[in-house]
Amino acid sequence: MNGRKLVAFGLVLSFFLMFLAGCAGGKLEKGKNGPQKVPLAERETEALDINALTAQWAESSHSNILLSPAQRDDCVLCHDGGAFAANQSEIGELDRDFNVSIDCRACHTGRGVDLMETGTVDIPSADNVKGGTGALCMSCHNSRRVGDVKDAERSAPHYSSQADVFTATGGIRAEDFNYGSTGAHAGIENSCVGCHLAETKEGFASHTFKVESVQAACGQCHQGITETNLAAGGDYDGDGDKEGLQSEVEGLLSLVAEAVKEKTGGGEISSAHGSVVITNANGEEMEEIPDEIYQAAYNYLLVSSDGSLGIHNPTYAVQLLQQSYKWLTGKDVPGADRKQ
Ligand code: HEC
Ligand code: HEC
Ligand code: HEC
Ligand code: HEC
Ligand code: HEC
Repeated sequence: MNGRKLVAFGLVLSFFLMFLAGCAGGKLEKGKNGPQKVPLAERETEALDINALTAQWAESSHSNILLSPAQRDDCVLCHDGGAFAANQSEIGELDRDFNVSIDCRACHTGRGVDLMETGTVDIPSADNVKGGTGALCMSCHNSRRVGDVKDAERSAPHYSSQADVFTATGGIRAEDFNYGSTGAHAGIENSCVGCHLAETKEGFASHTFKVESVQAACGQCHQGITETNLAAGGDYDGDGDKEGLQSEVEGLLSLVAEAVKEKTGGGEISSAHGSVVITNANGEEMEEIPDEIYQAAYNYLLVSSDGSLGIHNPTYAVQLLQQSYKWLTGKDVPGADRKQ
């Protein structure tokens, strides 16, 4: 953290602590469903360790963010915690000349609190998504656009495509296929928060924002689970092995990338300035990207930037990639079990 950021953070933290003390009418207690008002006289359990919680946040990506996107209109809304809390999408609206990270105020004041309380959020690919407190996460972690094969700009999904995959509403779909969704994951209480802020061993909602313990995040449903790469229900990439779901999804991503390569004489999938880019073996960018290549590249970027390798929605992620392969090559993934 640089000096300026540290000062700003100190101010936010002291404000936040005053806010907590004010509304709890006593000390904040750890409760099963997050912070609860516990009258001083009834306090029995140990108070929450705010220093440990804050130290987790300070090490997280939300604290150590890339600042350049926060210096642009539109981008600032999700890349500056104060702008998010105040719902400001133009840099001219900020009352300061420096940026702040995704800090306590982003999630625990203003718009963050509203989203957690209503538990509902609109994302570009779906209105009125119910996510409990995770509606907060989805308001930033979405792909910022609706995939459409007719899009002349050949737009790419933003790097934060998680809500699109989780809700099975993003990506470019084949018209002749009925897509499903792993309903049990989509229905997890508080969605994103249920897995990413599961209670730590210190006894409070984890603020590393990572899936720290598979036992805490997955164990109540998948008994005996030891790693996120849980055995898949089928050999979805057709390599002859039934592996973990994340390995199957990695296999499918490679198959789609290979198929794009074959169709374009060595083309690689990437994105720049919000658009899909296909670069050939000589480093030249393809000028007109045909529909079937665009949809495959879009879905490839959507599933790879989601970062969970299919865990957010196993059924949807596998189907999206299997159908992309089929649209591109005219055949099903050879030797693979089709995900129903
Ligand atoms: C709807 C909220 C939202 C808006 C608006 C938004 N971003 Fe992002 N952006 C995110 C999130 C969330 C991530 C983190 C994704 C992840 O790591 O999974 C991200 C990641 C990024 C990254 C990658 C950061 C890294 O550390 O790798 C860049 C670069 C970026 N955004 C640039 C931009 C630019 C430029 C704009 C404006 C044109 C913009 N963003 C607008 C939400 C948004
Ligand atoms: C105000 C917008 C915003 C909100 C709200 C938000 N995030 Fe983020 N998140 C970001 C940005 C921006 C990044 C990327 C930071 C960077 O690398 O520059 C990020 C990064 C992350 C990362 C690390 C990704 C990586 O590739 O390392 C995780 C995990 C994450 N967020 C989870 C969550 C969860 C869970 C929630 C809800 C509790 C949430 N976020 C709420 C904007 C947001
Ligand atoms: C079923 C539990 C579960 C739910 C619910 C969930 N995630 Fe995840 N998420 C994971 C797992 C597992 C990973 C992969 C992390 C790993 O392999 O270590 C992941 C990865 C991520 C990453 C990339 C992290 C990185 O380090 O690259 C982000 C960002 C993220 N999730 C955000 C979200 C958001 C936003 C939501 C809500 C829309 C959400 N997650 C819902 C389990 C979950
Ligand atoms: C990206 C969003 C985000 C950021 C940033 C964030 N929090 Fe949280 N915080 C949450 C969510 C979500 C919960 C869980 C709310 C629930 O489900 O009840 C939570 C819960 C808490 C709790 C209650 C913990 C418990 O186990 O009862 C405290 C205290 C807290 N946060 C303090 C902070 C402080 C201090 C900071 C800054 C250092 C911070 N938070 C930053 C999202 C965030
Ligand atoms: C609320 C209960 C619940 C939680 C929490 C949960 N899951 Fe699941 N998960 C399910 C159910 C139910 C299915 C669907 C089983 C089926 O389709 O046969 C499923 C499906 C899966 C699959 C798909 C297997 C396949 O091939 O279709 C994987 C992989 C998976 N979960 C991993 C995880 C991981 C990793 C976590 C924690 C990060 C997690 N789950 C958290 C209930 C849950």
